[in-house]
Amino acid sequence: KLGKLRHRTPEETPVVATERRMKTFLLCGMDAEVNTRKKTFTEVQTERREQAERTVLIKCPSRVNEKKLLQYLSSHGKINSHFFFENRGIHALIEFSEKSSVASLQDVVGIPKAVEHHVVPFKSRLFTFTLKNPVAKTAEETPVHLSRQSHIPVNELIQKLHQADSISSQMYILLNEYQLTEENIKLRFLACSLVQDFARAYFPDSTVKPFGSSVNTFGKLGCDVDMFLDFRDTQEHAAKMKKGPFEMEYQMKRLPSERLATQKILSVIGDCLDNFGPGCMSVQKILNARCPLVKFAHQPTGFQCDLSVSNSIAIRSSELLYIYGTLDPRVRALVFSLRCWARVHGLTNSIPGTWITNFSLTMMVMFFLQKRSPPIIPTLDQLKELADEKDKHIIGGYDCSFVSDLSKINPTKNTETLDELLCDFFEYFGNFDFRKNSLNLRRGKEVNKPESSPLYIWNPFEQDLNISKNVNQPQLEKFVAMARESAWILQKEDRTQRMINKEPWGLAALLIPFGKSNTNKMRRTKGMGSETIRSLLDSLKLSNASNLQKAVGK
Ligand code: CTP
Ligand code: MG
Repeated sequence: KLGKLRHRTPEETPVVATERRMKTFLLCGMDAEVNTRKKTFTEVQTERREQAERTVLIKCPSRVNEKKLLQYLSSHGKINSHFFFENRGIHALIEFSEKSSVASLQDVVGIPKAVEHHVVPFKSRLFTFTLKNPVAKTAEETPVHLSRQSHIPVNELIQKLHQADSISSQMYILLNEYQLTEENIKLRFLACSLVQDFARAYFPDSTVKPFGSSVNTFGKLGCDVDMFLDFRDTQEHAAKMKKGPFEMEYQMKRLPSERLATQKILSVIGDCLDNFGPGCMSVQKILNARCPLVKFAHQPTGFQCDLSVSNSIAIRSSELLYIYGTLDPRVRALVFSLRCWARVHGLTNSIPGTWITNFSLTMMVMFFLQKRSPPIIPTLDQLKELADEKDKHIIGGYDCSFVSDLSKINPTKNTETLDELLCDFFEYFGNFDFRKNSLNLRRGKEVNKPESSPLYIWNPFEQDLNISKNVNQPQLEKFVAMARESAWILQKEDRTQRMINKEPWGLAALLIPFGKSNTNKMRRTKGMGSETIRSLLDSLKLSNASNLQKAVGK
């Protein structure tokens, strides 16, 4: 077992650390969430979806006059918010306060001439702003502020981490740089809403909702948008209305299995997006997968999208993670750092394979936090006990109920710093008996593995599924070796000396690849870790910094 050396700057008692953590947290623009009641997942989702329906996207000339644009648009109604961003040219996202403003704008804009462009008549919410007489550059015309839609490269991040005074603050700096911004979230909901406009041409009562890391509080700038086509609202309506002797037939076709229905629906939507979807490129139908989906690039927003059909269990895991991520600020900080660490060391990859996924890694972090003493987050069984009638969800025979009101969950008494948690995470999983044990988040306990998959993480809702079934033995071993190496680096580095020498320390030292020779064996020889880092630093100076960026970029 690795020794337990703790690193804390001399003045940093747990209380000081917590205070500073909260200060950093407030600086991260999350203050609204601290003092007011935390919204439930459904409240946030409903609000964001409704907001997206009142929103349009406008392609602007490179020298756009912000005042003129807003002036022109306000003739269609009040504008609630707007921002500009760069994505193959400047775009403006405009959120009107009323949905009718969108229709008003659609009514007055020109449609390209059919003879020239062979247009398919579909009124989208994507516009191009052109002025007949582009204004001359006047002194008062200032360039518009462009909202950032991607995170900084990892080498720049490592530089920033120098300024911190503890690993905790390094982790909050990383979180602040990588987490989704308010603007990016709006853009993600807009992408779903634009696809919904399309889906509704076929299925008027359908809704397109985001799930996964776009909404579970663990999304990183640049991650894909997972969205699903939901007919649940229609089904609920149908269930309520079942009165009298009639059954609706005219818009329903019966199919022998749900899977076949899903495949057929996705097939038409996929074709529709491919042929007529404005800005939908590289549409790929992957209908034979366990969870059939359509992949496409949504050019106007710049997102890579995965569209599937009503995946109620996946939306429950998104909500569960939302609760965990919102309960305590340390949760997201730890997950973001570990996701970044895993990416740098090639433990995760944006293409599917035998490696650990971000989702599995996040579940491992949640399990670890359930196992702290006292626990930082509750088990799923505890959340289920707090559920009331409206939280009841039985999906496909599985009880997926848990509390939605965050105020019913008692805050944790655990005051450990992130410095401690990061190091202990590596130590915990560096020594975990993966051969014998599996991770059960429902009970917050290790339990005997029910089958021989190298890594077994119980799907919290479908208890007979392993969410990390794809992971093979070499990938798991690589993870364990990296965790051990990282624990070792954190425990033995002379932090003060490294700070003085302006060498990467703490989290920064972990975000530099350790070198191939380390992946299959654990190094415990004194001095080895820092040598590794020094040689890597040298290679970093020599090699193009963008290589590292490639290594972490999704
Ligand atoms: N999911 C699941 N079981 C799996 C894989 C995925 O239930 N074995 C669900 C989870 O709700 C997950 C969502 O599908 O959040 C989307 O999967 P994925 O895109 O792989 O993960 P994300 O959480 O979105 O993470 P990333 O940022 O890597 O996209
Ligand atoms: Mg995803």
